[in-house]
Amino acid sequence: MYVPEIRFCNAADLPALLSLNALSACPWPESVVEGDFDEGAGVGITYLGAFTTGASQELLGYAVLGREKGDSLLMALIVRMEFRRRGIGSQLLAAAGDCASYLGFAHLRLRVRRSNAAAIALYEGMSFAKRSVSRGYYSNGEDAIVMSARLPLEVRS
Ligand SMILES: CC(C)(COP(=O)(O)OP(=O)(O)OC[C@H]1O[C@@H](n2cnc3c(N)ncnc32)[C@H](O)[C@@H]1OP(=O)(O)O)[C@@H](O)C(=O)NCCC(=O)NCCS
Repeated sequence: MYVPEIRFCNAADLPALLSLNALSACPWPESVVEGDFDEGAGVGITYLGAFTTGASQELLGYAVLGREKGDSLLMALIVRMEFRRRGIGSQLLAAAGDCASYLGFAHLRLRVRRSNAAAIALYEGMSFAKRSVSRGYYSNGEDAIVMSARLPLEVRS
């Protein structure tokens, strides 16, 4: 278990966010990430970063929280490869859930690739349940599993 510092990201974190985004299996266009930090963008998108503690403040992972059809939506969750399986994804997800609760949402929703067993195991362990399937949702034709959880999130034992 590694306990990072989890905090809201700001424009100064953009280079680190873009580097980690570039390592993801399906990176977002850089302009999209940059646009989320434009002053006055007001798009209601929140980036939560997990950082090493101490002076260096290296970005280890991040979660992106948005909204869709009256629910809060987990738009991205990624942890640097060499820091996986140390509880960072779970802590980021818990922080995203707390943030959504604080904003007044009753549920947190997400989409995950059908083949992404690691992420599905993480979500199921944090009280998410499968709700529906969006067939061929991803650009390679893969289905998305839609999952949601009532807030606050609970860790399943
Ligand atoms: C999914 C991801 C964020 C998980 O981050 P993480 O920091 O490794 O997650 P945690 O250490 O908190 O794992 C919590 C639990 O999730 C499950 N889990 C995580 N990775 C797993 C894996 N590779 N295989 C099986 N179960 C896994 C386990 O139940 C794990 O608990 P355990 O380690 O006690 O067995 C990370 O693998 C990642 O960045 N993947 C690439 C991006 C991605 O797929 N994001 C999700 C998009 S919807």
